[in-house]
Amino acid sequence: MGLLRIENLVKRFGPVAAVDRVNLEIREGEFFTLLGPSGCGKTTTLRMVGGLEKPDEGEIHMAERCLVSPGRGIFVKPERRDMGMVFQSYALWPHMTVFENVAYPLKLRRVKRSEMRDKTRAALELVGLGGFEERPSTALSGGQQQRVALARALVFSPGVLLLDEPLSNLDARLREEMRRELKALQRRVKVTVLFVTHDQMEALSMSDRVGIMNRGRLEQVGVPEDVYYQPATSFARDFLGKVFALAGRIVDATGEECRVELKDHAGPPVSVRARHSGESPWAAGKEVMVAIRPEQISLAKTAGDGRGNVLAVTLQASQFLGDRYEYTVAVGGESRVLTAPAAQRLKPGQQIYLQLDPEAITLWPTAQ
Ligand SMILES: Nc1ncnc2c1ncn2[C@@H]1O[C@H](COP(=O)(O)OP(=O)(O)OP(=O)(O)O)[C@@H](O)[C@H]1O
Ligand SMILES: [Mg+2]
Repeated sequence: MGLLRIENLVKRFGPVAAVDRVNLEIREGEFFTLLGPSGCGKTTTLRMVGGLEKPDEGEIHMAERCLVSPGRGIFVKPERRDMGMVFQSYALWPHMTVFENVAYPLKLRRVKRSEMRDKTRAALELVGLGGFEERPSTALSGGQQQRVALARALVFSPGVLLLDEPLSNLDARLREEMRRELKALQRRVKVTVLFVTHDQMEALSMSDRVGIMNRGRLEQVGVPEDVYYQPATSFARDFLGKVFALAGRIVDATGEECRVELKDHAGPPVSVRARHSGESPWAAGKEVMVAIRPEQISLAKTAGDGRGNVLAVTLQASQFLGDRYEYTVAVGGESRVLTAPAAQRLKPGQQIYLQLDPEAITLWPTAQ
């Protein structure tokens, strides 16, 4: 059973459901990320978990304890929830020193003075800010403020850490460094993390599991590789990265295998391992879209042995991006962009061959 259980959570602001029947279980020690675009309800969900916002419907449980249930009239106050929180803005108190900021949650919990000093120092050591105790919190860089906010959230050794886009105020370099540090810190203190971000790289690189949120709803939950390569919805597919998509029509569908005739391409049909064919209405004659992540396409100068899903296309342009090339190719009458390793040297105007792995292709209804 999960450490944190969110059941049918609803929060309305006027007529709009900012959070619309969210169900989620987060395991002990897990790094779980809610990922979605601006306004999809991430912060609202996090604030309800932390007790800063009250849900209209649903329940939240931590271990055996119910934290909130409007139906049963239960509401546990934030400081009694055993959760540390870091906000996007850090929310440090400007009139306090670093020590006072970090010690504050302990003061709130009426911890003895000597214990307070030891724990605050230990938390600052943990985030690499030992010796910064007497600094005014206004005299810190963005990265240091972020660490102070983290130390303050961890100082009372909470069971769960709630992080709302804590890295988004940092420059790109520091952000990457903090990603690694935060992960290492989480492993060291073994805290369960609920992280919120709109940055897919951040979500994919740090999380044990990711929940894709869109318009208040959770569209897919899974390990990063699964949500990326096997997106459950067209929203998840497009939000997580680029897709190389081609229109076609199913010529036969048997068991787990589908063959699709591409609309603007004369070659033999492409075969697809349609994972969900059992419950999906994939049948011969149906118009579909064939999609694949661009980096899962291999490029070749020759057709090879002619087996498998090989598409002959014309290379229109290539752009060197340092670690890889970006190629624009003409498929039928349309231009498509894909990337490939920098080792490939291909010239515009030349005919090239795209190999599409049947396992990597996903099938979609044409309307999407
Ligand atoms: N206090 C409030 N009053 C009215 N509407 C609100 C309030 N807080 C949030 N909303 C609305 O609820 C929706 C979800 O907001 P929320 O802050 O949870 O989004 P978010 O996913 O965190 O977005 P962002 O990535 O921009 O931080 C938005 O449409 C927002 O305008
Ligand atoms: Mg937000």
